[in-house]
Amino acid sequence: MDFKGRDIISIYDFSKAELLYLLKAAKQVEDRPNSALLKGRIMAALFFEPSTRTRLSFTSAMEQLGGQVLGFSSSAVTSTEKGESLWDTIKMTEQYADIIAIRHPLEGSARLAAEAAKVPVINAGDGSNQHPTQTLLDLYTIQKTKGKLEGLHIGIVGDLKYGRTVHSLVIALSHFNPTFYFISPQSLSMPENYLAELREKKIRYFETAEITHTMPRLDVLYATRIQKERFPDALEYEKHKGAYKITKATLKNAKEGLKIMHPLPRVGEIDPEIDSTEYAVYFQQAGNGIPVRKALLSLCLGAIK
Ligand code: CP
Repeated sequence: MDFKGRDIISIYDFSKAELLYLLKAAKQVEDRPNSALLKGRIMAALFFEPSTRTRLSFTSAMEQLGGQVLGFSSSAVTSTEKGESLWDTIKMTEQYADIIAIRHPLEGSARLAAEAAKVPVINAGDGSNQHPTQTLLDLYTIQKTKGKLEGLHIGIVGDLKYGRTVHSLVIALSHFNPTFYFISPQSLSMPENYLAELREKKIRYFETAEITHTMPRLDVLYATRIQKERFPDALEYEKHKGAYKITKATLKNAKEGLKIMHPLPRVGEIDPEIDSTEYAVYFQQAGNGIPVRKALLSLCLGAIK
């Protein structure tokens, strides 16, 4: 499989075999560190939206491999403020960098950037649409902590309507015969296009607003934040914020070996009392951004195969 020059835009662009290949590459990169793999290569980190984990782990991954990083963490300091189009920004950036990681609030922006750029573009999150590198590190975390990807019972709780991480995750996991439990207020439920795709693939799923009764069935509980910034109506956000809070009481009937994941940041969805339990893998999950992003950068730049 050759990823040299390839863009990483949507999880829809990857077959099951390719997903497994990327996970294997991440494991190899983690097991055999090489601090000169990307020496002389430059990554542009174009973050038009706030980020802690994605930007820092891309930066750390690039620098640990001997590469360099340029970019910005807010559009406020760029010529976008003067009216420059995304297309033009990308046509500039491709002259300064070998690869581009972009986060942007508009759905489809990463695809547009990839059309503009001659260098590979990696989507670091486009609006409510997709966050494919998060999904890869989520799969990597599940594989590491559960020992497999196939046949798991996965609960996803919170904002399923606007949550780009869960949209990408559901599509990726649909290759691995999961059973899904979608836990959300009705107005934040999983969009119909994703449900229709699951039905077509004959993937079992259940929708509910109640979390505790699903606990005995779950191998993985993936919690998400109710995202204030995605709500067109502030009152609607106020109605739903704090809808779910996972505490030790929530986990009273949890299955042995349950793993709790969260793409982070959390704003009250998981009580810190859970952090020290064997269930919590969300900080480890964030750490897995390093091997996964190292592998993606190295593959797309043709430094490994
Ligand atoms: N998980 C994630 O995308 O976190 P950041 O928004 O901090 O990058």
